[in-house]
Amino acid sequence: MPSGALHRTVYMSTAVGVLRAEELDRIYLRSKSANSREGITGLMLFYEGVFLQVLEGPVAGVTSLMEKIRRDRRHANLVVLESGAVQARNFHQSPMHFIAARNLSAGEKQAFSDLRQEVAARPGALLAGPGLSDFLAVFAAAKTA
Ligand SMILES: Cc1cc2nc3c(=O)[nH]c(=O)nc-3n(C[C@H](O)[C@H](O)[C@H](O)COP(=O)(O)O)c2cc1C
Repeated sequence: MPSGALHRTVYMSTAVGVLRAEELDRIYLRSKSANSREGITGLMLFYEGVFLQVLEGPVAGVTSLMEKIRRDRRHANLVVLESGAVQARNFHQSPMHFIAARNLSAGEKQAFSDLRQEVAARPGALLAGPGLSDFLAVFAAAKTA
């Protein structure tokens, strides 16, 4: 696994049009294999046409992946919620743990919607405070298959 300073980026974006399940699968399968080569781990949530993705790994790998992801036309309105050095991974179990809407609990859906509203209300602002990390902690703690 590549070494170097550990970095985490969290962003939210909106799917362009209706993303079909096969397209989501393609993104997920590509992410799993490419990320494991790069020593990148993370989480992807997709709910009501909105992505939330956590990418953690060597700074160079995360930065170059973010450049590719920003250019991807399958989504738009990408807002970075957090980006910086971290001491440890939260999602070390998986190169990309994907949780589709049907696997989110009612409480998680509500928390996701709240987060979206918070982001929409403060465009351009990085999310400070415990809101984002509390939200993500739920998924980090969940057993990943
Ligand atoms: C929401 C979203 C998340 C993505 N996450 C990843 C990812 O974690 N890893 C990855 O390799 N590609 C991911 N992709 C795909 C990249 O945007 C890009 O298509 C892929 O890296 C192929 O780039 P390349 O053909 O220029 O190498 C994601 C795409 C979308 C729309």
